[in-house]
Amino acid sequence: MSSELDWKHLPFGYYPTDYNVRCTFKDGKWGEIEVTKSDKIEMHMAATSLHYGQEIFEGLKAFRGKDGKVRIFRLEDNASRMRSSAEGLLMEPVPEDLFRKMCLMAVKLNERFIPPYGSGASLYIRPLEIGMSPSIGVKASSEYLFIIMVTPVGPYFKTGFGCTDICIMRQYDRVAPRGTGRYKCGGNYAASLVAGEHAHDLGCSAVLFLDPKEKKYLDECGPANFFAIIDGKYVTPKSDSILPSVTNKALMQLARDMDIEVEERHITVDELANATEAGACGTAAVISPIGTIRDIDTGKNYEISPDRKPGPISTALYDRLSAIRLGEYPDEHNWNTIVDLD
Ligand code: PLP
Ligand code: COI
Repeated sequence: MSSELDWKHLPFGYYPTDYNVRCTFKDGKWGEIEVTKSDKIEMHMAATSLHYGQEIFEGLKAFRGKDGKVRIFRLEDNASRMRSSAEGLLMEPVPEDLFRKMCLMAVKLNERFIPPYGSGASLYIRPLEIGMSPSIGVKASSEYLFIIMVTPVGPYFKTGFGCTDICIMRQYDRVAPRGTGRYKCGGNYAASLVAGEHAHDLGCSAVLFLDPKEKKYLDECGPANFFAIIDGKYVTPKSDSILPSVTNKALMQLARDMDIEVEERHITVDELANATEAGACGTAAVISPIGTIRDIDTGKNYEISPDRKPGPISTALYDRLSAIRLGEYPDEHNWNTIVDLD
């Protein structure tokens, strides 16, 4: 195990690890998997990823469990979402078995960076696919590079499982109504940076974006989905312009398992007045409970958690999700892939 790391206080940042794994699609087929120690990419300056945004990525995590086993959470869902993102940007979809094999290799090769059980940290797995062919005309690449890198991480929002504040601002859109919101492509994140910076300046950790067509419904929350507890139900936005979150899907299932009703539907801004709990959810965010939602344009503040404590349903969901990932609770839905470390 890497000795120089302070596992309990890791930021959500890039810490260099030993290896990354790569595979190139060229001449109509995927080549051999390469293992490299280099964290650099050599590429043509006219590559389509650099000029025309043919770039997609994923985010998933590996956890060291109580029993010493290492589990990757919902790998198949990330593999299939990455294929959907590739199709959305006219890129070559990575076969699911290649995605799986490379994830397992990257985790195993960097085993000494998997945080210990009890540290609260995890090994973040970041698959990346980029168009490599040079082109000045706007068209899809014929060559693609698929890389999986890993890095140990702590919580995304510095409050971890503590309340954070977010804000609504109507002057920004992250994506277009029928644009790329449901794909995990870099352009969506570039388009969110100015809004995110503005939110930080106002003391909030993220923007709760509204639907880009009518600005009437809640969409998603910075780099995470959004949920609220309204009338005891788990309510989360249904929208074509948000990323289908693997974590949110898991939380909806866990809520049902706990006999909590789930609604995936449009949520209007003023319904926030009835929310007793709310959270941002995602691989990086896990569940980040929300204290106050500030509507900057109207000046209205929705005090979701006046005592700044995570609510009972968010806590129960967080605890169950963590327990499944750490091998402390039965994996009833078959979400974990156990990494063979021998
Ligand atoms: N929404 C956005 C924009 C994201 O970047 C993420 C992170 O991946 C999510 C939602 C949450 O998705 P997941 O739970 O699959 O990580
Ligand atoms: C994730 O939750 O995996 C993300 O990709 C969010 C962000 C760090 C981009």
